[in-house]
Amino acid sequence: MTRLSTHDGAFAGLQPQAPDALLSLIGLYRADARADKIDLGVGVYRDAEGHTPVLAAVKAAEAILLRDQQSKSYLGPEGDLGFLDRLKPIVFGPRDAVDIFGVQTPGGTGALRLASELIAAARPGARIFMGTPTWPNHPQIFEISGLEIVSYRYFDSQTQAVRFDEMMSALATARPGDAILLQACCHNPTGADLDAGQWGQIADLIAARGLTPLIDLAYQGLGLGLESDAAGMRRVLDAAPDALLAYSCDKNFGLYRERVGALFAVSDSSARLELAASNIKALARANWSMPPDHGGAVVRIVLEDDALTRMWRDELETMRSRIVEVRKALAAAEPRLSALAQQHGMFARLPLNPAQVAQMRDRHAVYMAGSGRINLAGLTPATVPLFATAYAACLQEEFA
Ligand SMILES: Cc1ncc(COP(=O)(O)O)c(C=O)c1O
Repeated sequence: MTRLSTHDGAFAGLQPQAPDALLSLIGLYRADARADKIDLGVGVYRDAEGHTPVLAAVKAAEAILLRDQQSKSYLGPEGDLGFLDRLKPIVFGPRDAVDIFGVQTPGGTGALRLASELIAAARPGARIFMGTPTWPNHPQIFEISGLEIVSYRYFDSQTQAVRFDEMMSALATARPGDAILLQACCHNPTGADLDAGQWGQIADLIAARGLTPLIDLAYQGLGLGLESDAAGMRRVLDAAPDALLAYSCDKNFGLYRERVGALFAVSDSSARLELAASNIKALARANWSMPPDHGGAVVRIVLEDDALTRMWRDELETMRSRIVEVRKALAAAEPRLSALAQQHGMFARLPLNPAQVAQMRDRHAVYMAGSGRINLAGLTPATVPLFATAYAACLQEEFA
């Protein structure tokens, strides 16, 4: 280790970190003058006009909030309790609310960060099992808490299928107290979700081996629908004595920059749930003290009002069906994209190498993540054929 002198400055010992690749893609896209360019990079929903609008239900709730809010005083480390209470039945279904504890967090990211710290505190030396590929932020969130990450291959981009046997073999090596990160639906980046039978097998294995599930539910309602998207993970929650769930309202309420999420702990023991609750609150205090209010208050107002809830559900359904339509259109336009019609959510991971991704960009003005991930909501009925033609040409050019 190099010894720093008194004149080096506090930052001299830092290692430079790679910039976020998706953010640099935005810069490249903006600088591209081609009129028919297509942006499939950043992971936000877009309507058929290419906009990420504020939902009408959210606008209406914001108007009510502006009119009625009397104070901006602190709410406490748990955040908006009404927000948490209204969210619970949507996430957990008819489960008894007394065995659930929740705190509002800055986005799903904040919830994952708290969960990783709680797991590290609860079981020193615990490991976290994580399928690859996954959301690129996952590994760093868990590394920072000092958890050892055990990776296994989750997805085969050539066959576009979940490598379920490999997943089960990897999880069979987990020790009691190890945690398992599971994306509940709309898997990022692959779109390949577990089916009901597979969720059942995972639930049995978790129960048999005494593992702690950490469910990441960031896209509820954007896959098969609000209820169906939660059905598989609920089987896992039922099977485990203690479990954690990181939730994001940023996608299904279109509230991205408001940073709205929640961490829930679920337990079959009220004593252990209380222990988890006191630790989660202490960790929240040490991280951000109190969560930001606006987005959580907006979600609460929507969910307290039947008409606004109906409006939100309709708008969510419109987003969901648009994504399904794009999936179907892609599958119909290009046989090598047919698997996409069976997958869910905004993302697909195409079997393209970095050179082909660069070719898509340079020759066809199609921008996607270097991994081959595309955001399907970046496509419209008009651009699906352009994309399909570019994709076919790119696969062809590989062999030319
Ligand atoms: C799988 C997954 N989990 C969690 C998150 C975090 O969401 P948020 O923006 O609410 O922090 C994301 C965001 O892209 C995600 O893709």
